Amino acid sequence: MNNKNTFADMPAGEFRKLGHQLIDWVADYLEGIERYPVLPNVDYGDIKKKLEDQPPVRSDKLENIISDIDEKIIPGITHWNHPDFMAYFNSTSSGPGILADLVSSGFNVNGMAWHTCPSATELEERMISWYRKIFNLPENFWGIVYDTASTSSLHAIAASREYNPHLKIREKGMAGRNDLPRLRVYASEHAHFSIDKAVVTLGLGIEGIRKIPSDDKFRMIPGALKEAIEEDKTNSWLPCCVVATVGTTSSTSVDPIDEIGTISNEEEIWLHVDAAYAGTAAILPEKQWMFKGIEKADSLVINPHKWMFTPVDFSLLFTKKPEVLKRAFSLSAEYLDTSKDEVTNFMDYGIQLGRRFRSLKPWFIMRYFGVEGLQNRIREHIRLAKMFSEWIESSDDFELSAPVDFGVVCFRAIPKNLSEGEINSFNEKLINKINKTGKLFLSHTKLNGKFILRICISGLRTEEEHVKNAWKLINELSKE
Ligand SMILES: Cc1ncc(COP(=O)(O)O)c(C=O)c1O
Repeated sequence: MNNKNTFADMPAGEFRKLGHQLIDWVADYLEGIERYPVLPNVDYGDIKKKLEDQPPVRSDKLENIISDIDEKIIPGITHWNHPDFMAYFNSTSSGPGILADLVSSGFNVNGMAWHTCPSATELEERMISWYRKIFNLPENFWGIVYDTASTSSLHAIAASREYNPHLKIREKGMAGRNDLPRLRVYASEHAHFSIDKAVVTLGLGIEGIRKIPSDDKFRMIPGALKEAIEEDKTNSWLPCCVVATVGTTSSTSVDPIDEIGTISNEEEIWLHVDAAYAGTAAILPEKQWMFKGIEKADSLVINPHKWMFTPVDFSLLFTKKPEVLKRAFSLSAEYLDTSKDEVTNFMDYGIQLGRRFRSLKPWFIMRYFGVEGLQNRIREHIRLAKMFSEWIESSDDFELSAPVDFGVVCFRAIPKNLSEGEINSFNEKLINKINKTGKLFLSHTKLNGKFILRICISGLRTEEEHVKNAWKLINELSKE
């Protein structure tokens, strides 16, 4: 039956048939992903040109839409699930994660409050406690799921601002007040720019963030933090939040949380830890060192959508002080009054009211792979990165640019008889050449003014053979 012109949804039979077809399509796509170049070869506007200018007035067949995916969408797809995608912090999806997203759309619940969908709230709470166990985090770390680390850090810094209730920022705001000192947030010079963005969004201004120098391994220097805080206090700034990074974006360096935590705790400044990428490695007992002193942190962000095979988006914020987060964000309307509830209403802990049923994803993923299965995969990525870094170290044509603790290797080509400036442009040309082949996608960074190539091994489909091919290609093109 075709009831497209009535008021009903797609008939169940049609949904079932097309759903099966689409699952087949996704399975074929993932199975055969290596037939595509990892990066699309298109210019801006090429994809839009293929798409109808006007919205369809009459109903179209879903079969036509599915075939349009191949023709119109695939040419502009950057294949993040491709085993040769080794740029940024590669987030790959997984079968169980994709299926969980499907179920979530099927339910289409809004988990804003417990009563609007008890299962959404309670599964989220249970998943938070699973994560706390697998990452070996302190029992008193309460948690919530947001979309991205940028959002999680924004909420953490908003809570840090609320931590000192005498400031009355919630009631009076910040503008035009003579009784409010300027607030300062501290982060290493290698912290992610989402921290700067949060500071700007919260009205502290770009001057409200002070960048702390780092050592030769790109880790924040605790002594320099202490000095900065002291200096600021004598100049009438009010220290508000310290952000330590575990796994910086450029080189995956690890700020010493223990020492930073001692300083923050003594000064009664909120400590937020950004472990968006590397936090997942805490699932391995041998990586627990990176969280030494984590009990001193007030909040912590980890993104399972970066390295835990969870389709975007999925970010975890833990905090020891949920009551402060709640104070910063709870507001309600009569139709949703939660003030007398003795249940968790996640709407009270953030900007957004409506909430997707995201926690189905870790429920499927952790059960399907098992903690051991996840550990094996993450350990393998670290092994492959180590292997790659050993090739770099034993080559006369390349040098390693940062320690390798996780799945990222920073390196550069060092052709003989070139000046520093020429080496930089050589590496820039090299990465452009590599990425143009469509056989490998790497990203770059700058460390100490040097142009650095960066390979990230965190894809679920990336195997030793892909890393070997990458090394071969890099060598060939650098010799050219
Ligand atoms: C250390 C760190 N923090 C935060 C972010 C921002 O992540 P998101 O895209 O989830 O906002 C990134 C992104 O790569 C990151 O590397």
